[in-house]
Amino acid sequence: MLASGRGSNLEAILQAAQRNELCGQVVLVISDREKAPALDRARQHGIPAVFVNPRDYSCREEHDAAVMKLLRRQSVELVVLAGYMRILSAAFVNAFPERIMNIHPALLPAFPGKDGVGDALAYGVKVAGCTVHFVDQELDAGPIILQEAVPIIQQDTAETLQARVQAVEHRIYPRAIDLYCRGKLKVEGRRCHIVQNE
Ligand code: GRF
Repeated sequence: MLASGRGSNLEAILQAAQRNELCGQVVLVISDREKAPALDRARQHGIPAVFVNPRDYSCREEHDAAVMKLLRRQSVELVVLAGYMRILSAAFVNAFPERIMNIHPALLPAFPGKDGVGDALAYGVKVAGCTVHFVDQELDAGPIILQEAVPIIQQDTAETLQARVQAVEHRIYPRAIDLYCRGKLKVEGRRCHIVQNE
C-alpha cells in the first residue's frame, strides 16, 4: 500500500484483514512522507513500513522506480493507493496494468483532483460520495470498481461531510480489494464488472 497521510483507509483495510474479511494480505506500506501516521499504523500491525524520500531522487520517475523496486521485491500483486499524494509516472502505471487501485472522495467523474469533498460542497450538489477505481494514465479516471453516494445536508461543512464520506470509504475500499483478490473483477473497456457466480 502507498500512503502519504493519516492512514485511516489503511487502518480500515488492515482491520478488515484481521477480521479475515480480506482474502489478500498486506505485505508492505510505503510512504513519501517520513512522519505519515500511516507508517506508524502499519508498524503497529506488524507490517513492514518504509519511507522513500522523494528528495533523494532527481525526478518523479526515479522515485517511482525506487518504490517499484520495493514492491517487486515483495512480489506485490496489487498496489493500493490510500491517500498517496503523488501522481504516478507513466512507467509506474504501465508496470501494474489494472493492478493499482485508488479511492477518491467524490462520485467520479465529478470532482476529480485534490479536494473532492470541498469541491462538491462548493458546487452545491446534493449528493457526494466516494469511488474506488483502477488507476490509469489519466488522473482519477480509470475504470470504476465501487461507488457509493453520501447525501449532503444543509448544515454540512467540509469536515462533517468528509467524516461521513470517509466512513463509507472505510467500508467499500476493503470490499473492493477483497473482490480483486478473489478474482471477481473483470474489466472490459471502461466498465468493471463484478463476477457473480464462479
Ligand atoms: C481519503 O479521503 C481518500 O479518498 C483520498 O485521500 C484520503 C486519505 O485519507 N484519496 P486517509 O489517509 O486514508 O485517512
